[in-house]
Amino acid sequence: MTRSVPPEQDRERGIGTLRRPSPARPVVEWPRDPTGGVKPVNLSQQHQESVDLVRRWVEEGRPFRQLCQDVVSHLRARYPHYNWVGVYMVEGPVLRLWAWDGPAPTQHVEIPLHSGVCGWAASTGETVNVPDVNQDPRYLQCFLQTRSELVVPIRQGSTVFGEIDIDSDTLAAFGPQDEAFVQAICDLLARRAADEALTGRTLGA
Ligand code: SME
Repeated sequence: MTRSVPPEQDRERGIGTLRRPSPARPVVEWPRDPTGGVKPVNLSQQHQESVDLVRRWVEEGRPFRQLCQDVVSHLRARYPHYNWVGVYMVEGPVLRLWAWDGPAPTQHVEIPLHSGVCGWAASTGETVNVPDVNQDPRYLQCFLQTRSELVVPIRQGSTVFGEIDIDSDTLAAFGPQDEAFVQAICDLLARRAADEALTGRTLGA
């Protein structure tokens, strides 16, 4: 597969490179939301129904692992452009696949934190929306038909527990509404992860 080199301005913005925080001078500024709380967003009715459903699961104390499986299955069933949905969790220096739903398994069940779009999102604590995976040198290929990818960290304050990773067969499938929606789901998962005292990783550490 050929990959185009990102334009100069993209390289300057850090696209195409894995930015690692240096203890002396962090390259990435975080957190953008120091409280780690849910940001105010205008979700569609369908999005809001999904968020309310996941909130009920969290409030009834559903165990985190089961919650992850229920979330990925719900997202894939309800949103046709979410073709493959997974939850990766930080385990020391790697991300491990805890739950997934899609037409086929991925070979990437363990991803080093310095690798892939997934590693980039977990390392920086930032959402990554890749409109064309074939133009992003960070991308680790799983499925030939994937065209775009959205990765949203499961994060509370400066602690990143993991992330939701969504692959779509459609080019530029994800907009700001998807980002805000998946962020709201991830904020709920982060609450449950914190309740279960999962370790995650601390940004900048
Ligand atoms: N594409 C991801 C790897 C995970 S699979 O998409 C399921 C990445 O670039 O990190």
